[in-house]
Amino acid sequence: MKQQQARIGIVTVSDRASRGDYEDRGGPAVAAYLKEVLTSDHMVVTRVVPDEQPVIEDVLRELCDAQQCCLVITTGGTGPAPRDMTPEATEAVCERMMPGFGELMRAVSLQKVPTAILSRQTAGVRGGALIINLPGQPKAIAECLDAVFPAVPYCVDLIGGPYLVTNEARVRAFRPPSAIVSKGSGGAS
Ligand code: MTE
Repeated sequence: MKQQQARIGIVTVSDRASRGDYEDRGGPAVAAYLKEVLTSDHMVVTRVVPDEQPVIEDVLRELCDAQQCCLVITTGGTGPAPRDMTPEATEAVCERMMPGFGELMRAVSLQKVPTAILSRQTAGVRGGALIINLPGQPKAIAECLDAVFPAVPYCVDLIGGPYLVTNEARVRAFRPPSAIVSKGSGGAS
């Protein structure tokens, strides 16, 4: 079981935010969510990129491979517009897809907004990193992450990453009993 500090990538995919036409609100919303929910030692590595598939692929590879992130969360570029390419970039860099993440996030989001069906958000695994797509709307971030985050720490365990611990009052992570490491037994810090 690895106990090192978890590195988590946050990628805002937006032409306008990357040009500085407006302030990136999605990336900071993901960072704020992680700060609220994760109690184990972690640091975030943030990037803002335009809606260009090769650029998105490069930054995902950089965060997974060079930066050794165990989790990479993207925001934006999941819709049906011609320049929305985040799911394609995610699929191109992942060895395997995790379609349940997108299915659950859409199902939960549909309870909030009918246009949730327009998001093609997905997730997948590249090496030791889980990549999860979120829509660009800042309010979609907590809506989507609340749905899937209970399964994220165990997924990260399964791909060889650090043991993530959540603030249970906010998000209760689920692990099978055999995978739980309690405080004081060398597990969560
Ligand atoms: N999901 C949630 N939870 N909340 C939202 O406001 N917006 C939808 C959808 N999913 C939304 C959502 C809309 S309007 C669009 S167009 C798609 O996400 C794609 O957004 P994106 O291209 O910014 O990723």
